[in-house]
Amino acid sequence: MPGPFTIAIDGPAAAGKGTISRAVAAHFGFAHLDTGLLYRAVGARMLLGQDPAEAALGLTAEDMETGDLRSPEVAQAASRVAVMPEVRDALVDFQRSFARRAGGAVLDGRDIGTVICPRAEAKLFVTASAEVRARRRYEELVASGADVSPEQVLADVRERDARDRDRATAPLKPAADAIEIDTSDMSVEAAVAAAIEAISKRRLG
Ligand code: C5P
Repeated sequence: MPGPFTIAIDGPAAAGKGTISRAVAAHFGFAHLDTGLLYRAVGARMLLGQDPAEAALGLTAEDMETGDLRSPEVAQAASRVAVMPEVRDALVDFQRSFARRAGGAVLDGRDIGTVICPRAEAKLFVTASAEVRARRRYEELVASGADVSPEQVLADVRERDARDRDRATAPLKPAADAIEIDTSDMSVEAAVAAAIEAISKRRLG
């Protein structure tokens, strides 16, 4: 099996990180970690009354499969626990060891290229306008049966963006050496192809 190769994919909510990360991982045969799920699992536990730092320290694989981690309430709770340095610290080792596993890894999140894996072999920053991201998220939520309005989803996306960008610890921002992909006017296929092309260049050096 080839040695470690880390692909860091960061960006704001609903920019297309998840879709791109899964496709990139499948293309290169790498493992994939959606780090947002870690914060969502901690957020879900906070909503159940647990202390977020304790929840982060005791997080299990089962927590990542329990409850509706994709709901807007859990997304907001995730971004609230994500400002807490003790929560972030508790999740660092797990993410770093996943990143360096043999055979290669794709991690997507907000601070992978800047804080978790500053020496990742390839870094992408995936963005799109807030309106486009809110529309995509709205369509996903409606398809999953949620009762939401487009205005509410846009307000939610903006609130989460502001909290993620303005926090003191590990704020959302592109790493200096990240390749930016703006997916606002791109099809899924085009965005995935652009990501694979950019990473292939780094892989070949
Ligand atoms: O990516 P996703 O929308 O699932 O992330 C939920 C929340 O978790 C984000 O709004 C952000 O506050 C937090 N998060 C983070 N760092 C990461 C991944 C997610 O702060 N690496």
